[in-house]
Amino acid sequence: MCGIIGCMKKNKSNVAPTLLYGAKKLEYRGYDSVGIATYSDKIHVKKDEGKIEEVHKRLNLYDMPGSYGIAHVRWASVGRATKENAHPHTDENEKVAIVHNGTIKNYATLKKELKSEGHTFTSQTDTEVIVHLIEKFMDDGLDLEHALRESTKLLKGSYAIVAISSDEPYKMVATRKDSSLVLGVEQDSYYVASDILAMLKYTRNIIELEEGEIVVITDEDYVIHDKFDNPINKEITVTPWTPEMIDKNGYPYYMIKEINEQPEVIQKTLNDKNKIRAVLDDIGDFERICLIACGTSYHAALSGKYIIETVAKIPTNVILASEFSHTLNVLDEKTLVISVSQSGETADTLKALKMIDEKIKTLSIVNVETSQMPKVTDYSIITQAGPEIGVAATKTYLAQVCVMYLMAGILGNDSELIERLYEVPRYIEEILERCDELKVYSKRYSFVNDLFYMGKGFSYPTVLEAALKMKEISYIHAEAYASGELKHGPLALIDFTMPVISVIPPGEDHDLAVNALEEVKARKTLILTIGSENDDIIEDKANDCFLINPEVDEEIAPLVYIVALQLVAYYITVEKRLNPDMPRNLAKTVATE
Ligand code: M6R
Repeated sequence: MCGIIGCMKKNKSNVAPTLLYGAKKLEYRGYDSVGIATYSDKIHVKKDEGKIEEVHKRLNLYDMPGSYGIAHVRWASVGRATKENAHPHTDENEKVAIVHNGTIKNYATLKKELKSEGHTFTSQTDTEVIVHLIEKFMDDGLDLEHALRESTKLLKGSYAIVAISSDEPYKMVATRKDSSLVLGVEQDSYYVASDILAMLKYTRNIIELEEGEIVVITDEDYVIHDKFDNPINKEITVTPWTPEMIDKNGYPYYMIKEINEQPEVIQKTLNDKNKIRAVLDDIGDFERICLIACGTSYHAALSGKYIIETVAKIPTNVILASEFSHTLNVLDEKTLVISVSQSGETADTLKALKMIDEKIKTLSIVNVETSQMPKVTDYSIITQAGPEIGVAATKTYLAQVCVMYLMAGILGNDSELIERLYEVPRYIEEILERCDELKVYSKRYSFVNDLFYMGKGFSYPTVLEAALKMKEISYIHAEAYASGELKHGPLALIDFTMPVISVIPPGEDHDLAVNALEEVKARKTLILTIGSENDDIIEDKANDCFLINPEVDEEIAPLVYIVALQLVAYYITVEKRLNPDMPRNLAKTVATE
């Protein structure tokens, strides 16, 4: 749940600005602390608690000598967010420095052994055992890469590690297991990082490192060794992502940029229709679907269940990845298991996939092609959202939902549904053009402590997702319920202190959803309704209404209405002077169970 980068400048230019730039692009993975180690005559380290900009102001992270080095941004898991726990970690003599992403499960046992052998620890992290192990093996006579290899044999858990040593200048070694690591190759420099965003400004030529491989990078070349220590040749691929895709393009935050990209994302997803059809053809027959996911991706999967069961009539179960083990017993070879994930690195989802019997077919719907999930599933569909930097998922959610609508249309032979999807970008544009109306409403709701969301049928996953968005970026307590459930308990919560946001598109569920609206109106609370133009009934019952094109009925509303709700969460957050891109305690890639 951290971001790591290493860079070797073959032309011997100063590496610190490149490392800092790369670390900044990885900050969405964690921003509790930051650190850099470079080599010039000796290893130089600067690190501290806080976001990159804060630490840079205090320590001037550009002012680091050397043409190669490593950097880290941390999301604290083992050990609090302090200077001591920030990476890079070094041994007592600053002979070895490493950055690590992942979790070492047996670190306590290793730490005890290393301490008894005389090693002194200065942090509470799991990572520090790795640096002492490498030091120990180097003291026994191994070179840096073999010391790293021997060390990893003792580690249980997940890791992506980059290490340097003052005993072997102008060498950098890296390896991974259950955490991603990508090598970037340019004429004048080499890069190794948790993901390509860290190096995209400098190179699009990448090599994905597989488990157990070790790359040895020097100021002349790089060599990759397989898990048996044999040197291997791996093909360089060119990522379709471009540096322009990770610019803010004049927007104040990534989140609002990414919300605005959604019409294009839907269009690109629809362009993939034939690829998705080909994947489904390859998979062949199945009788049931089991969707596994976490967070926002779980809500996208729930939307998938509604449309797949309605249109394709295939029984579909949706399970939180962290709760998946209990479902194992009911899976059989007629089930297609589909994992849904933006990052493709979510530990809970990867763990669930690993539990599944090899005979059961697995498909991943993932946004990051170089991530682990496509490698551990039989089939994969890559969502066309492009890089998403804001911690709150927006455009990737919509891309996931759109993929599942396409799947439903294909599996259910419903060409009419597929045709209707081509209108979705236009409906979203219409909402984006009227965002000022939502800004005004958002001001009115920004002071509240609690919010209650309700929606029925297809709109139920939408309100779950809207409430999650609100919680994670504005820190307002938000609950979402299916409208029909109100009377079974949560109605007791509703009074004037609990404003309600209700989602009521036209369709079969409209009237019952309105009944629930009546119930909250009678409790004299403030109500904002997202509904359809010309719907006089809801206009009459809500204090505030945001009305959407009436062509959008309940079936396709999940692809459209959510945009208005994302904007409400965003504007409330900005109104509260919070940074929507970096919510407290969260990171975009959750590589810990
Ligand atoms: O990368 P994934 O889609 O697997 O991540 C799952 C959740 O951690 C993620 O959706 C999280 O809930 C987001 N912060 C939501 O905005």
